[in-house]
Amino acid sequence: MTKRVFVTRQIPVAGLDRIRAETDCVVWPERLPPSPEILIENARGCDGVVTLLSDRIDAAFFDAVGPQLKVVSNFAVGYNNIDVAEANRRGVKVGNTPDVLTDSTADIAVGLLLAAARRMREGLENVVQKEWLTWEPMGFIGQDLKARTLGIVGMGRIGQATARRLHFGWGMKVLYTSRSPRPEVDRELGATRVEFSELLAQSDFVSVHTDLNPQTTHMFNADAFRQMKDTAVFINTARGGVVDQDALHEALSTGQIFSAGLDVTDPEPLPDASPLRAMSNCVILPHIASATVSSRNAMAEIAADNLLAGISDRPLRHQVP
Ligand code: DGY
Repeated sequence: MTKRVFVTRQIPVAGLDRIRAETDCVVWPERLPPSPEILIENARGCDGVVTLLSDRIDAAFFDAVGPQLKVVSNFAVGYNNIDVAEANRRGVKVGNTPDVLTDSTADIAVGLLLAAARRMREGLENVVQKEWLTWEPMGFIGQDLKARTLGIVGMGRIGQATARRLHFGWGMKVLYTSRSPRPEVDRELGATRVEFSELLAQSDFVSVHTDLNPQTTHMFNADAFRQMKDTAVFINTARGGVVDQDALHEALSTGQIFSAGLDVTDPEPLPDASPLRAMSNCVILPHIASATVSSRNAMAEIAADNLLAGISDRPLRHQVP
């Protein structure tokens, strides 16, 4: 019998065409996510769903959609939008899309680091606002990158790819925090695993690559920003919830740190009234780190593989633990 699935957004045809060919599928056509009620309405009675970070999948969702559901295939490497323990308890498999966005995300981390260190937002605004007067010896002076110290918070795949770019490209010394030691990274990059507070105190650049969980929520709070150098640049391409944004705003506006580059915020989009939007030393992107042709196509392929395997009781290509 043909399986029913709901796909909560248009995803690249590299995955969607196969889902369409092999299932009876409904694809949410709008740019904005379906509301929780519409999500449930469409997923009710389905064998599988393809979800995005903006779709909350929790006990209420599982209760409402019914016992037929076998798999939630998340179109993302992160899965903090899904209550995985609840899914496991109900025997629903959860899939994600690791590896294929490692390089694209590390590229954006480095791009943000350059932009925030070299005051590119201020430079761009200066040109757009027609305030460019002349070449100024004292204008737009930023931070050097060469041979500075990089602190990576979370030395997983993306943390390592970012560290490699900055170590081999700019000769940066690498410090990191990680749940477990990474001897292979220590050898390759001459990196050192340190305590969080030491990383904050020593690093010229702090780049966040940890997942969002109860331990990492708001780990960058007022206390953390106070421990950083006043020349430090803070980069977040992981999850907005890792940062207390009021504390970040305070740190940026009082000169506790030099600048920040964010690809993620909490919530997304950042409300118009958020004071961070107006900070010229804060470069903010609309969560685009995985937005390259190959990453998004590969994410769609894996999301399709996970979905089609899950609805047929086969092992997923990438199942989250
Ligand atoms: C992810 O995959 O978790 C990113 O944040 C979006 O691509």
